Amino acid sequence: MTYYTMTGIAGALIVAAGFASAQQSIVIGHTLSADSHYGIGADAFIAKLEELSGGEWTGEQAPAGQLGGERDMIEGLQIGSLDVVITSTGPLGNFVPEVYALDLPFLFRDYDHARAVLDGEVGEELLGKINENQLVGLAWSENGFRHVTNSQRPVNTPEDLNGLKLRTMENRVHMEAFSQMGAAPTPMAFPELFTALQQGVVDGQENPVTVITASKFWEVQDHVSLTGHVYSPAAVLASPIVLDALTEEQQGWFYEAAAAAAEATRAEVNRLEDAGVALLRENGMEVVTDIDKAPFAELAQPAYAVYTDQYGTELVERIQAVQ
Ligand code: PAF
Repeated sequence: MTYYTMTGIAGALIVAAGFASAQQSIVIGHTLSADSHYGIGADAFIAKLEELSGGEWTGEQAPAGQLGGERDMIEGLQIGSLDVVITSTGPLGNFVPEVYALDLPFLFRDYDHARAVLDGEVGEELLGKINENQLVGLAWSENGFRHVTNSQRPVNTPEDLNGLKLRTMENRVHMEAFSQMGAAPTPMAFPELFTALQQGVVDGQENPVTVITASKFWEVQDHVSLTGHVYSPAAVLASPIVLDALTEEQQGWFYEAAAAAAEATRAEVNRLEDAGVALLRENGMEVVTDIDKAPFAELAQPAYAVYTDQYGTELVERIQAVQ
């Protein structure tokens, strides 16, 4: 087997053009551990790609932010230095502003609602918007509903957030929502977060149970509150420079592989929604499960203007109307 160890498959393709039997290889970058919901998705992508291509294509994961934070990796896709990336929508709105609509607080009622939106017309349209911005949106995957963790105190009401230095994603909607809810939002790339929590640079952070467990945040955080303040989708993205160099059939394999990745990731999100809280408690975290979300939602409402002042309310209303 000839194996080209290059980061970009564009390079591998050039080499492969002269050696028809060469196996072609992709790298899938993401910020979480190899056994996280993203890692499971990346493995499913690679397995499907190998299957569809009859072994002609293979791949490997670059987990744990080895290739940078999510914003860096999205830029890498745009210039063709990366092949495929699994990322939250957190930093994606900086590249594709319409995607900010998905990050609005308390917008999605539950997982069924969120998945129906992303698998339907709105999701399709937003993938199209991604494609207009030097990226290829292959599929919508998932991160989960986000919850607050911190090292100071249990959060039961918005007053408990007062003055908490909370790491957020580099996302204007999230930052505004947390300012309105009384916290002090501190945007930071995820690869820097564990150390920042450990050293007390920030008091807390917010992420789904999937991420809290995969990142073992119990080592540096005592409290979790199931605020479910934002549904966090994930996108499986590819570089247009890489995809454009492929045949239509090969491009189809990438789309099918991304769909398999999303399915496997959602299955792991489901598993951890059931088993995750027990895991957090087993590892010593105090988990507040019974939260009245209404006062949080009321305070966070002005964050909608970050999106709607510029792009109007149409997309938000369409998302809300999906059953
Ligand atoms: O908090 C974040 O930055 C994201 O939720 C994460 C953990 C990188 C997953 O996409």
